[in-house]
Formats: sequence, structure tokens, C-alpha cells
Amino acid sequence: MKKYLVIAIKWVNVEFIKNEIQSYFNRIMTKQEIDKIRADFPILNQKVYNKQLIYFDNGATTQKPKQVIEAVSNFYSKTNSNIHRGVHFLSEKSTAIYEKSRECVKDFVNAAHVEEIIFTKGTTDGINLIAQVFGEKHFNEGDEVIISEMEHHSNIVPWQLICEKQKAKLKIIPFNDNGELIIEEFDKLLSEKTKIVAVTHVSNSLGTINPIKKIIKKARKFNVPVLIDAAQSIQHFKIDVQELDCDFLVFSGHKIYAETGIGVLYGKKKLLENLPPYQGGGDMIKTVDFEKTTYADLPLKYEAGTNNFVGAISLMVAINYIQTVGFDKIIEHETQLFNYATKKLSSIEGLKIIGTAKNKASVISFVLENIHNYDVGTLLDKMGMALRTGTHCTQPVMKHFNISGTIRASFSFYNTLEEIDLLYNAILRIKNLF
Ligand code: ALA
Repeated sequence: MKKYLVIAIKWVNVEFIKNEIQSYFNRIMTKQEIDKIRADFPILNQKVYNKQLIYFDNGATTQKPKQVIEAVSNFYSKTNSNIHRGVHFLSEKSTAIYEKSRECVKDFVNAAHVEEIIFTKGTTDGINLIAQVFGEKHFNEGDEVIISEMEHHSNIVPWQLICEKQKAKLKIIPFNDNGELIIEEFDKLLSEKTKIVAVTHVSNSLGTINPIKKIIKKARKFNVPVLIDAAQSIQHFKIDVQELDCDFLVFSGHKIYAETGIGVLYGKKKLLENLPPYQGGGDMIKTVDFEKTTYADLPLKYEAGTNNFVGAISLMVAINYIQTVGFDKIIEHETQLFNYATKKLSSIEGLKIIGTAKNKASVISFVLENIHNYDVGTLLDKMGMALRTGTHCTQPVMKHFNISGTIRASFSFYNTLEEIDLLYNAILRIKNLF
């Protein structure tokens, strides 16, 4: 009896271990899987200056899978017609696909209502929209808006514009030298005067993942709404707006493998319903009369003119694509790339990583001692490598570190460890040249 028990325990353990190994390999992408993914992105398979292209500028824009490219081309070949305007076959078909795209985004971010999904031009457009309509309605002289020191210019300037107009003040959460927000300082800034908090989820120039859940909870105590800039996080993590309990969230399609010129503003229905319209014309009206115009209900209230319906469709296809690849796999692979690159690049003498927060997305900004970031970027370009250089539209971040700019490598799930080895070798060559 005992013998059988021992065999059974051993068998269970072997099965358990086998399952563990299997699930590990299911998560980390195999070379075949990455090759298959890369084959979906035609742009990656090309040479620049006679060198194989290595694309590490995914923070600026991501490349498009052929599924997105073909869907757009097919739509123009077979379906194209304006939305919400015709009773004819094509118009109804276009409208149905556009609204299906909205449903797809709603499910993707787990919004409670489909009307909470507004299609915009992109992240900047979404922030400007909220800054204008929310600011006009709620900001009075002496009121305060809290943003952070690591915001992209598009989450600074729209607030400055409306604050100037309404005589409100901008308050800044500082970050420490690792590039982590100092939450105790946020606590000190929050007050009865605070009207809204707007922070980035992931810093585009430092890679820091901010503790947005904590920030939202703190703001909630003061009944202050929070806008999350998800431009650099939506492509890397699964976001659930209900779980986060954010009030507004914005992102761009082109950073999540869709076309340019399409973006999303998520806003809680109750808040959006009580805000004034933004732009006038087209889809945002219900009735127009010279005496009085009435406005459409959400979401069309914020979609004036002919919206970028083809862009919205491309976004649906891109979301379907990344869901097919699987977010767990994407996260695992990008984390592996990030850890490997951090280790390799840190070992280079004279290379300093800017942004060393404990929680980071797959973004590495760095400087090379005595070599200007533009020179590094230009030389890397000649070696076939696309990295972004400069201030990354975050001049206050550069001011904090007293630098003119950085070289930034931002990874996607189609990048490989071999490409990082090539980047490492290229940086060593550049160092030798100087
Ligand atoms: N905001 C984009 C970037 O970080 C353009 O590169």
C-alpha cells in the first residue's frame, strides 16, 4: 500500500513539475513564435543603409501588422462610406463596423458602458478635450490642477492653457532621482482647491510605471477626478478602467499597432454627461436651429465632424491582433527584453541609464559620457537602428537631470534578444570612435 502511495505522490509531483515547465514555456515566446510574429510586420523585413533594420522606437509609434494594413485596404476597396449619415448599404455597413470597433474598445478596457468610449485623434486630442470642457465648467480663480514632473508636454500644456484662462494654478508632483513620483508630496498638494489630477501611467522618457491606483484612491478621498494618460501603457499592460476606478483615460491608436489619427478617450458616463460640448458640427448635433441647437447624446456629443472611422476599425483589428498573440506572452517577452537590455547596457562603462525606478515598462533612456545624444542616435541610425533621441517632449524631465536629452530604446514584443546584442555592440563601437 505504502509503495503505491509513494509512486502516486511521485507521479503527481512529476505531473506538477511537467505542468509548471509547460506553463513557463507557454508564456515565454519561442523563437518560432517570434519569427511568426515578425512575419506579420512587413516593415521589419527591410534594410536601411544596407543593414538589417532594428526598430527600437516603439514609444514614438509602433509598426503595423499586415492584418491591420490589409483590413484598412479591404475597407477602402469594398466598404468605404461615411458613417451615421446614409440609409444606403455601404453607409450602414460602415456605421456598423465603426460601432463594433467602439464595442471592441469598451471590452478591451472593460468600460461599463459603450457610450463612455469617445473616438478622438489621439492622446493629445483627448487631454485637450477634457482640459477645455472640464476646466471651463469647473475651474475658478485660485483652483488647482495637479499633474506630475514627468508628464509629456501634451499633459502639461493643455492644463496650462485652461489654467491661464480660468486663473487656476498648476501644481506639480515631483519625482526622485530614480524617476519615481514622491507620493508624500502628492499628499501635501491634494486639497479642497484641487479640481482634477492628470498623470501619466508610464513615463515615455523614463519608463517609470506610476502607482496610479494609489493616486486615484488618494484623490477619491477629496472627491477629485483623475485623468490617466495611458499613451505608453495601453500597449504593454491589460488595463481595466473599472478596476482602476479612473475617471478619464486617454490613449492613441498608433502606439498600439493601429493607424495614426485615431485615439480613445474613456470617461465615466456620469461625468461626461454633465460636461459641455467641445467642438461643434456634424455628428455632435441633435437639432440645429438659428435660435437654438441641441446636442447629441454620448458618445457622439464629443465626435464632431466626420470622425476617423477607418482609424477606429484599424484599432479594432489591432486589438484583436494583440489579443490573439496574448497579453501574458507580450508582457513576459517585453519584460525579458527589458531585463536583458538593462543588464547589458548597464555593463557599458560611461553609459548611464536615466530612470531607474523599481517598476518600469520596456523603455530604456540613457546617455553616453562625453558624447551628445544626437551623435549617438545618428551613428546608430547608420548602423540600421532606429532609436529616439532628444527630450522626448518632456523638457522638465531633462531639466531635472540637467541633461540636454537622452537616447531611448523602447521595445515591442516583435523585438528580439539578438537585436539587443547588436545594439550593445553598436554602442561599444560608437564609444571607440570617440
Ligand atoms: N510621445 C511619443 C514619444 O514618446 C512621440 O516618442
